[in-house]
Amino acid sequence: MTTPQPVLSLSHVSKSFPGVRALHDVSFTLYPGQVTALIGENGAGKSTIVKILTGIYVPDEGEIVGAGKVQHFASPRDSWAAGIAAIHQETVMFDELSVAENIFMGHMPGGRFIDWRETKSRARELLSRIEADFDADAPLKTLSVAQKHMVEITRALSHDASVIIMDEPTAALSRHEIDELFRIVAQLKAEGRSIIFISHKFDEIFRLSDRWVCLRDGEKVGEGLTSDVTEPELVRLMVGRPIDQVFPKRDIPIGRTVLEVKGLTNATEFADISFSLRKGEILGLYGLVGAGRSEAMQCVFGMSQPTRGSVAMEGVALSIREPIDAIHAGISYVPEDRQDQGAFLPLGIRENITMASLAGHVRNFLLSPLSERMATRALGGRLSVKAAHWEQALGELSGGNQQKVVIAKWLATKPKIIILDEPTKGIDVGSKAAVHDFIGELAEEGLAVILVSSELPEIMGLSDRVIVMHEGRIAAQFERGKGTGAAAWSAEAIVAAATGGPMQEHAA
Ligand SMILES: Nc1ncnc2c1ncn2[C@@H]1O[C@H](COP(=O)(O)OP(=O)(O)OP(=O)(O)O)[C@@H](O)[C@H]1O
Ligand SMILES: [Mg+2]
Repeated sequence: MTTPQPVLSLSHVSKSFPGVRALHDVSFTLYPGQVTALIGENGAGKSTIVKILTGIYVPDEGEIVGAGKVQHFASPRDSWAAGIAAIHQETVMFDELSVAENIFMGHMPGGRFIDWRETKSRARELLSRIEADFDADAPLKTLSVAQKHMVEITRALSHDASVIIMDEPTAALSRHEIDELFRIVAQLKAEGRSIIFISHKFDEIFRLSDRWVCLRDGEKVGEGLTSDVTEPELVRLMVGRPIDQVFPKRDIPIGRTVLEVKGLTNATEFADISFSLRKGEILGLYGLVGAGRSEAMQCVFGMSQPTRGSVAMEGVALSIREPIDAIHAGISYVPEDRQDQGAFLPLGIRENITMASLAGHVRNFLLSPLSERMATRALGGRLSVKAAHWEQALGELSGGNQQKVVIAKWLATKPKIIILDEPTKGIDVGSKAAVHDFIGELAEEGLAVILVSSELPEIMGLSDRVIVMHEGRIAAQFERGKGTGAAAWSAEAIVAAATGGPMQEHAA
């Protein structure tokens, strides 16, 4: 077999930020028609590589070699011109504009005198190539996250990019949408494009990639063919030690009922949601993306108003009009979407962690910086937040570490009930175990936990009870270790309830 000509190489690249060595002497090569998985823990340097390849950051040392010569990317425009396109961890698109405008932003057909007819027809042609099911005229804001990803891919195609980078593209996608994305990736591969794929999900890495490159603390610690490696080997490389990925379920006495939700309904997203929650209990809320789980929980937290139904806390009916009412009642909600909800990127880690619980840090009518710092250190340390220091701006942290800070913020409010929406999305294997352990500890301390997750092993590993939602309604309930047949505590029965069908084979 002859080795194909490389598309692009990173050669001895280093990049530091104040107090952090984000990348040190990293080299690797991309080949046409291959998917390269870039793996590593939160803060390992993956997104920094993406930003260097796309001209957002300039490396301190080292170079990018493409088309047989050293490339200097002083801006995203240069990298784009060299045929590199990226779908970033944080999407940068224009919600108010149409799909076509987003695709051709910065390179509209017709130049200064935009040829709208041409813009639209070329957008349609590209969208049909990836079999998109929306129109070029649609405003971007009407699209789902998955469809927005497709717009970004189309944007890359519009430029005939030879390197396409996807930084955790599947984090917000449903299983069906992931299949769709993978189909498109296979097509891009067949067209000879080179793809960098970043994910914390091993099943995806093994399904999709031809090669892998592993980073740890900004250094490359290994690379090779995906067919030659196993998951435990990759985990050990990423974390530097073997990780026990089993979920130890703590045996916790379950106390009295704290929350009682009855018949909660809103106009379109969910109907007749009734359940109770007890002290020390972990209640899993499982379902496919789009089943209405987050919407129902956001309603309990006061982010929207139900058309019908009631919420009672310790026997007393609550009137929750906005989140502050829920917080006062002792309910906290950790949102799934860390970019839009819950995180204040320009503020420091300490301010983010303590902002929802400031009253707890008042001593003699004054905010106590010492008390705030202690709480920050305790929670940040417990969740292994990786940062240069606790005053560092949240926006400077890696994606997964931002997520951990948002979790810490809501834990600092010392709630009675905590609703965790996809708490380990975007979180690496090592930290995931820390988050799981922490959830168990919270229950042990008497908190009642609602765990919304699309990951079945996580739900089954941690929950005492599981409620399954399907198309906005509760489809089934399961109790740990109990039941038989369709009501049995089994992966098959839970998945069957979530898909609304008869028992189906469970894809692990
Ligand atoms: N603008 C910046 N200022 C300061 N530090 C930064 C900046 N950007 C990144 N860093 C730091 O560089 C390191 C690498 O971050 P990077 O975002 O590349 O991690 P990552 O591998 O993408 O992690 P994740 O899986 O959490 O997304 C982190 O310690 C991060 O805090
Ligand atoms: Mg990242």
